[in-house]
Amino acid sequence: MEQKRAQWGSRLGFILAATGSAVGLGNIWKFPGKAYEGGGGAYLILYVAIVLLIGMPCMLSELAIGRASQSNMVDSFKRLGHKKFTWTGLVGWVAAVVIACFYFHVGGWVLRYVYAYLAESKEVYADPLGFFYGVLGYDSVTGASRFPWETILFAFLFTAASAYIIIRGVKGGIEKFNKVGMPALFVLLIILLVRSVTLHGALEGVMYMLKPDFSKINGHTLLSALSQAFYSLSIGMSIMVTYGSYLPKEDDLEKNTLVVCVMDTLVAIIAGFIVIPAVFATLGSESVGKGGGFAFVSLAGVFREMSGGVIFGFLFYLLLLFAALSSCISIIESVVAFLTERFGWNRTKTTLVSCIILFLAGCLYTCSQAAFDIKGIWFDFVNGITHPAFCDAMEFVTDRLLIPLCSLGCCIFVGWVWKPESAVAEAERCGKKFRMAKAYSFLIKYVAPAAIIIILAVSLFTGTTLS
Ligand code: PHE
Repeated sequence: MEQKRAQWGSRLGFILAATGSAVGLGNIWKFPGKAYEGGGGAYLILYVAIVLLIGMPCMLSELAIGRASQSNMVDSFKRLGHKKFTWTGLVGWVAAVVIACFYFHVGGWVLRYVYAYLAESKEVYADPLGFFYGVLGYDSVTGASRFPWETILFAFLFTAASAYIIIRGVKGGIEKFNKVGMPALFVLLIILLVRSVTLHGALEGVMYMLKPDFSKINGHTLLSALSQAFYSLSIGMSIMVTYGSYLPKEDDLEKNTLVVCVMDTLVAIIAGFIVIPAVFATLGSESVGKGGGFAFVSLAGVFREMSGGVIFGFLFYLLLLFAALSSCISIIESVVAFLTERFGWNRTKTTLVSCIILFLAGCLYTCSQAAFDIKGIWFDFVNGITHPAFCDAMEFVTDRLLIPLCSLGCCIFVGWVWKPESAVAEAERCGKKFRMAKAYSFLIKYVAPAAIIIILAVSLFTGTTLS
């Protein structure tokens, strides 16, 4: 049964949707902390170079596979005549499934904090860490645990919003949402940027981000920047293949890739210039960190210290909410696209059922944070089989294994099997010459796969986390 495939309504629609996917929590709560550790300006230079040399060729390859095959990632390789690479698509799809489980829940925490800054900022300020533990179902005073049902309810609302957008379709749901969500996100970024850099004492943080301190760059910084680029550009999760498959033939892949990569990197850098100067000005540079703990706990201290902090806190979590939602819908879209296309299932029912299952599985993510001792399983060659907390195991599986493996499969496929010329031809279908074709072919054949193999090897043979 051949159905007419969905398509983006306009080039801008695609760019906003792909940027929406790329701009996520990774940009806002991971990038600034990593930039701080990596010597401010030095890290920015390194990161931009990685995006240009490795991120862009990989993204363009995924978009080209999608548009050429007109198919979801799992089936795309068969469509292009190379069934043997179906594993690559499956790995990307499984990565999408696992990330969706926890993104629903982290999205719920963000929503919980939007509400907290509206209604309970006093409680947050009084004990930021205790409040965060409370959100996760752990009472830090008595040590008692309980099922965090309010937070789960917020996660459910976030899941329902994502499902609703997906059910509305590619043009009527995803594109429409991003056309409002992305400009709103940029407005919020600018407001927060102005507030942050005008804080008394912020200049030191701004200078830190501008002055390149290359002594802080080492092998680990380099690899951690590499894996940040993959995660941040939404590569290796089957998303860009799916989004690329909805692109019309006359669209310019080279330009689209460039715009999306520039926008994603710009947001990450702006987030760096919001977070770092604000922390320098209020709590002091030693409080800079990254991840959920930093965003929910340490930043509460920052908002408490600044005038108008409650409003800016509210706006900050609203910004996180837009970023999380637009990323989340892209991941659900790729989960659902495969199921509906492969099995001919109905889009609405498939979305509802998969969202419910993934949401339920994701409850383990929230519950294993602090309240309950739920273990997962992980293997690396240094520590052998270990049993980290379930939530950590979920992130290890995606960051350390599935995302790099899927990206590697795509690079090898495009570089050596389908051949860069096919991707270049796909990019030139719009009638314009692909100016960087030579550089692209070299990067996708040699540089990108080598970088990914190193990431995989370091993750598995040294047991270090690069995220
Ligand atoms: N690019 C996203 C980020 O930076 C990663 C992501 C994409 C996560 C899609 C989930 C879904 O956070």
